[in-house]
Amino acid sequence: MNALSGPSDQHRYGPAPVLIALIQSAALAQAVCVAADLRIADLMAGGCTTADELAQAIGSHPPSLHRLLRALTSLGLCDEDQAGSFALTPMGSLLRSDTSDSLRSWLLWFGRYQWPVWGRLLHSVRTGESARMLVTGAQGFGLLQNDPEAAALFNDTMVQLTRAVAAEVAYACDFAGMRRIVDVGGGYGTLLAAVLQAHPQLRGVLLDMPHAIEGAAQQFERSGLAERCEVIAGDFFQRIPEGADAYILKNIIHDWDDERSSAILDNCRRAIVADGKLLVIERVMPARMEDSSAYRAIAYADLAMLIGPGGRERTEPELQILLDRAGYDGLVAAMQRALLRLGHVETGGTEPHQFLHPPQTHRLLCRPGLAGGGGCNETNTQEQNERERIEQKVTEITKRDFSSWFVFWKFSISSNLFLNFQKMS
Ligand SMILES: C[S@@+](CC[C@H](N)C(=O)[O-])C[C@H]1O[C@@H](n2cnc3c(N)ncnc32)[C@H](O)[C@@H]1O
Repeated sequence: MNALSGPSDQHRYGPAPVLIALIQSAALAQAVCVAADLRIADLMAGGCTTADELAQAIGSHPPSLHRLLRALTSLGLCDEDQAGSFALTPMGSLLRSDTSDSLRSWLLWFGRYQWPVWGRLLHSVRTGESARMLVTGAQGFGLLQNDPEAAALFNDTMVQLTRAVAAEVAYACDFAGMRRIVDVGGGYGTLLAAVLQAHPQLRGVLLDMPHAIEGAAQQFERSGLAERCEVIAGDFFQRIPEGADAYILKNIIHDWDDERSSAILDNCRRAIVADGKLLVIERVMPARMEDSSAYRAIAYADLAMLIGPGGRERTEPELQILLDRAGYDGLVAAMQRALLRLGHVETGGTEPHQFLHPPQTHRLLCRPGLAGGGGCNETNTQEQNERERIEQKVTEITKRDFSSWFVFWKFSISSNLFLNFQKMS
């Protein structure tokens, strides 16, 4: 979207054009959702390029569809040629349903279910109450239990959004020596599947509400992980499966207020083995906001929690307080920073952080041609292939925008396994 934004745009164009563009782009988000709903990208990928062809395939009003296509073009999702044919841009291709980087479900979830709820933001700001509750009558995740279509879209949305961090967690966190991990509220299992695939010694348990269980089981079946993963329908406020080495909470704590979050953290602590760990993956609210797209993403998520389940994004000290209260020892590492350090390692900078998976760190250090990291003597082809695979993975990882994602490893109350890890500041 080409909304003007940021201090430099305000300086260049003046505040009014920036504000007007902001409102226009908010409204035009619905045009993108409608395009996703109508499967326009799938049809275009299949060879329909004109408004008439598309209108016929969809059964819609050709002149109006043409106007929608031109709006999409203005937003950078399509290109229009001299003859009036349209083609998808790379961003437009994200609306396809059949690609591995598709964001279509998220657009449908947003356009169909979130849009009316955002329209009641005023209610949430006035009262502190969930606008979703006002609009749907269901609290927390109750809507998903009552509406299978909403549940499928929500769960697919989480798959599409979680893909962005699954590889980082799987490759950058050290799961060595662990045997069993539990993904608490793991949805359709995208993260757990990535971790299990990267660590063949691990077995997994996915706990979620009944609406997610069948989809999760199918996902593990498709990935060939069904034998290594148990899928449990349950309530994390009641009981969390005991005795695993690590518990993952990704985008769980932010759904809830402090009291409910503490209850989940308490239940995890009760379930965890003596030397076990808790992996909390959340965005971290900065102490002060700034005018930037990265901060806007956090502000968006924070308000989405307010109007939706009634949770919030938290600052690092706020997360720390919750974890301290629940009896976890000190904060160990934030993955974003570890990855930034990893960037330093590539340019011959600082020491690799121990939080990184050791073989990965090693490979990076002996990557040929790196300033300060050269001199790799490994000639074994298998080693080299493995190194290239990991380098490619890490390149993919570092290319992405991590600005809003942090990952915390916490010790369980009795753990002293990694006490030599330094708190990163
Ligand atoms: C924001 S989603 C996160 C899903 C997944 N961890 C991810 O990041 O892709 C929150 C998840 O918590 C699950 N959940 C909510 N309340 C729950 C409860 N009481 N017991 C178990 N799971 C619950 C939801 O069904 C949903 O899958």
